[in-house]
Amino acid sequence: MLKIAVIPGDGIGPEVVREGLKVLEAVAKAIGLKYQLTHYDFGGDRYLATGEVLPEGALEELRQFDAIYLGAVGHPEVPAGVLEKGLLLAIRFGLDQYVNLRPIKLYPGVWTPIKDKGPKEIDFVVVRENTEDMYVGTGGFAHYGTPDEVATQVAIYTRKGTERIIRYAFELTRKRNRKKKLTMVDKSNVLTYGHDLWVRTFNEVGEEYPDIEKDHAYVDATCMWMVKNPEWFDVIVTTNMFGDIITDLGAMIQGGMGIAASGNINPAGASMFEPIHGSAPKYAGQNKANPLAAISAVQMLLDHVGAAEAAARVEKAIAGVLASGKIPDLSAGKCPPTSEIGDMVAAAL
Ligand code: IPM
Ligand code: MN
Repeated sequence: MLKIAVIPGDGIGPEVVREGLKVLEAVAKAIGLKYQLTHYDFGGDRYLATGEVLPEGALEELRQFDAIYLGAVGHPEVPAGVLEKGLLLAIRFGLDQYVNLRPIKLYPGVWTPIKDKGPKEIDFVVVRENTEDMYVGTGGFAHYGTPDEVATQVAIYTRKGTERIIRYAFELTRKRNRKKKLTMVDKSNVLTYGHDLWVRTFNEVGEEYPDIEKDHAYVDATCMWMVKNPEWFDVIVTTNMFGDIITDLGAMIQGGMGIAASGNINPAGASMFEPIHGSAPKYAGQNKANPLAAISAVQMLLDHVGAAEAAARVEKAIAGVLASGKIPDLSAGKCPPTSEIGDMVAAAL
């Protein structure tokens, strides 16, 4: 019995998660997969009502699940950072989900703003480090609010953290067995301490993978190549902050935020799957958001827990619906109603 924690969260989170669960139910029925859901009301509304983001013991509880399914975090009445740090980052860090896996895959039938590039050219994976960098939140203010104010925000990189993400990326590149090419993306020409550690670690770990082509690109140039020659990439490994930024660009070239999914993975613990889009409050509760990213997150979840057949069926159903041309525009407000997209995928299973 697969035990899944569900955190619908804020804004459009609940409505896209509902569709993801609809597809999960349908595929489980089709192949006889048993699962059990436990819902959590964590998010902005709960915080506003109780003053608490994650209640005591929540992380311990979440750790017990086979996987966590998250909708979105971010609430217009809650100051920026409270839910991001108190919920999303607290889970990523607390459960040591050190890999943020973000496939950038353009399905046939989906429009991309990149001229002359199609599904053959746009198919790579970004392995984003998920527990270090500026996300650790080390820093502070001096002389706050005065003309002499100083603010620091420290980027932290550890040998252990760097090594484990790079190793994960090498293994994934081998497993994908596509171009067998791993590109490390950094800014080692300027960040000559932290990213020097990354370069040295990449070179050392790389010696264990003679079958993998080692490639290197600065993050600014990577943005250029992702638009100009996306086919050069197979797997990218990068730091937390750069991974955050380049995967929004990645989402755009694969058809938009409506379709981009991700997994926060602890290979030895509980992992969490979510669409990469935010809570989009302006579309909340209107049945206008595209649930495909959330449905793809279910696919990633199934794949991660070893339900490979279920995952493959969900992906095939998503691809089938996209190829059918029934969703000519994937963006919120322009796509068919949220619930209808869920129905289409469930029917295509
Ligand atoms: C993401 C998001 C988060 C991040 C925010 C909401 C904290 O942008 O998952 O990419 O920066 O990691
Ligand atoms: Mn982001």
